[in-house]
Amino acid sequence: MKNVIKNNPTLKRILLKVLFRKKPYNARVRWFIWVFTILPVYFRRGISLQSRLDLVPFHKFQFGRFSRIEKGVVINNGMGDVILEDEVHTGIGCVIIGPVTMHRHVGLSQYVRILGMHHGIDPDLPHHYQPSTKAPIVLEEDAFVGTGTVIMGKKNGNTLTLGKYCRIGANSVVMTDIPAYSIAVGNPAKVVKKWDFITKEWVKV
Ligand SMILES: CC(C)(COP(=O)(O)OP(=O)(O)OC[C@H]1O[C@@H](n2cnc3c(N)ncnc32)[C@H](O)[C@@H]1OP(=O)(O)O)[C@@H](O)C(=O)NCCC(=O)NCCS
Repeated sequence: MKNVIKNNPTLKRILLKVLFRKKPYNARVRWFIWVFTILPVYFRRGISLQSRLDLVPFHKFQFGRFSRIEKGVVINNGMGDVILEDEVHTGIGCVIIGPVTMHRHVGLSQYVRILGMHHGIDPDLPHHYQPSTKAPIVLEEDAFVGTGTVIMGKKNGNTLTLGKYCRIGANSVVMTDIPAYSIAVGNPAKVVKKWDFITKEWVKV
């Protein structure tokens, strides 16, 4: 079904007109789509009524058991699926733009921004007319991200991965893969410590 629509430009244009509002809110769905597809999501346990879910019906939004979306969080799946597995916690004011996958026990402190897309930067066009490209991001199990951090997907479209049990320092800017069981800080984020499985200690690198 999705492929039929994708390969038929006229059908695609008509459907997008039915789904989306007019400028300047053209990235958000019309009120009747909102009522049937987004409003019911707010009744799920753990989702703050003061969060903003900008969800489209043609991409996935998955919300696992005992996960939490706090006040002021923005979630947008317009460019790709947003998957929150079980017990994922997103702190106040986080912004998550898909495609983003967070495996179980991932934790975001306050005001973390995870950006799974890029706009083109051709100076001949206004930014909102530039083509957007996907930059998928995966946070593996129990990755924890310090407050104020920006995680920016890769510009070549490959998946950016934050490994299992990594820790990201407050106010970091992550642009490259972070290995599992490491601590990374700064702008751009660099690994400063690794977990030693023999001595059971964090070791400076
Ligand atoms: C990343 C973090 C977990 C590291 O903790 P730690 O293992 O105790 O690290 P240390 O304090 O030994 O710091 C190691 C090095 O990283 C630096 N560093 C630590 N956190 C940093 C940060 N956020 N930004 C830049 N550098 C940082 C330290 O200055 C130190 O540098 P040095 O080796 O040149 O002296 C911690 O500093 C942090 O930022 N935690 C997140 C806090 C947060 O957001 N809390 C919200 C709770 S809801």
